[in-house]
Amino acid sequence: MRTKDFAATNKISLANEYHRYNLKSVIFMISKKIAKEKRIILKHADDPNYSNKIGCYLRKGGYKMLEKSLKLKPEEIGEEVLKSGVRGRGGAGFPAGMKWKFLDRKSGKPIYLICNADESEPGTFKDRQIIYKDPHQLIEGMMITAYAIQAKLAFIYIRAEFFEGAKILERAISEAKEKGFCGENILDSDYSCDLVIHRGAGAYICGEETGLIESLEGKRPNPRIKPPYFPAVLGLYQCPTIVNNVETLCNVRHIMKMGGDAYAKLGKPNNTGTRIWCVSGQVVKPGYYEFECGALTLGEMIYDICGGLHPGRSLQAVIPGGSSAKVLRADERFTGKMKDGTEFDWGIEDIPLDFDGPMAAGSMSGSGGIIVMDDTVDMVQAMANINAFYAHESCGQCTPCREGVLWMRKITKRICSGHAREEDADLLLSVANQIEGRTICAFGEAAAWPTQSFVSKFRDDFIAKAKHPSDEKSQLQLI
Ligand SMILES: Cc1cc2nc3c(=O)[nH]c(=O)nc-3n(C[C@H](O)[C@H](O)[C@H](O)COP(=O)(O)O)c2cc1C
Ligand code: SF4
Repeated sequence: MRTKDFAATNKISLANEYHRYNLKSVIFMISKKIAKEKRIILKHADDPNYSNKIGCYLRKGGYKMLEKSLKLKPEEIGEEVLKSGVRGRGGAGFPAGMKWKFLDRKSGKPIYLICNADESEPGTFKDRQIIYKDPHQLIEGMMITAYAIQAKLAFIYIRAEFFEGAKILERAISEAKEKGFCGENILDSDYSCDLVIHRGAGAYICGEETGLIESLEGKRPNPRIKPPYFPAVLGLYQCPTIVNNVETLCNVRHIMKMGGDAYAKLGKPNNTGTRIWCVSGQVVKPGYYEFECGALTLGEMIYDICGGLHPGRSLQAVIPGGSSAKVLRADERFTGKMKDGTEFDWGIEDIPLDFDGPMAAGSMSGSGGIIVMDDTVDMVQAMANINAFYAHESCGQCTPCREGVLWMRKITKRICSGHAREEDADLLLSVANQIEGRTICAFGEAAAWPTQSFVSKFRDDFIAKAKHPSDEKSQLQLI
């Protein structure tokens, strides 16, 4: 158990870490040029003079980009978004402009737009901030997108637990309708599009786009198999549908303001624009931060932006993209070649915070949820909690996922409670390996990756845990 290791090496560790902590701060003060936050989406979010009412949004130039967009041809907006290179902020990082291009426009069926505001990935808390603090930005982004894809009906599928968010959006939509920004003949044009809020069904799987669509249709959120059910072809009511994340849709407004080419200059090639990172865990200043993609490294985020770890602590591990991303060990080295051929040799602190950096390090930036774990974290217990979550959330359609996640939970629970068998670490790996790649939706990978990475990277902890089980209190955390 890490806490024990910590106690055993307490004095040396404390001395080293105080030194390291102070050294980091000194480096920060005298030599380093730390990237500043570049707030585009969250520009007004924490301004005490700004509220989520339409008046504030209009005073800051709100809905001007909708006005501008309605004067363009829909395909011209699509071209700007394509040029911007903006990648989806919901998890997979698929380029939005390309997704829009896949829309089946020939079928003659109605086209729908859905905003995915389910935000169910543990460690992620950015979309709710946008909704609570600047809902009109999302509505404007959605109306521009709806016009670009020629949708006549758009939905915001919001997580069931966001009661307040749903209320805020309801009010914001009625304000927008009153001013003619959505509904019939938007801004006196001949384009009409209604916008409807749909409260989620309270399950993680409702965030998976095809599960979300099933739920929106009033059914159990069982994800659909792809192919053939790619939403852009066979989505809501079997009609072409675009599903985009809240942050992605907000970006559309800024792309129209800057122009696709100028937007593409923010960040780096293939990693354009800004990203909102949600930092949680054992850092001094957890929270949400918006930076240009790749403007800073994971180490700079942890030590310079989030104030570092608490005094006396050392970094043990980081999950860089929400609970389904593979965990990274603090003492790992990451070597290889990027897609453009550049070679890298990074420690954990050198990993660039963009889409490609965490991916090159064998994990992913996912939905932007960075979970920092210091040396007090019991890694077996942490994985047990993650496994309990996935076991609870599987929709149960596919046998490897339904049975596998339950077995992973049972095995980790038995390790934590002192009933481990010698072969349990290998058994866990084997179960996880048999889930990955054998399921209808990517939940299978989301559940398998934590187990694969925790067990292979913290194997000694699993062996040690078998000898020194968790105390009764922490066992109770397991569902
Ligand atoms: C299990 C699972 C849960 C997901 N949960 C969310 C979610 O809560 N919010 C979200 O935007 N995307 C979520 N996604 C990704 C969506 O399926 C989809 O890719 C995304 O909404 C597309 O938007 P984007 O292209 O703008 O990222 C999830 C995916 C999986 C496999
Ligand atoms: S992978 Fe899991 S969550 Fe996804 S469809 Fe299969 S059983 Fe359901």
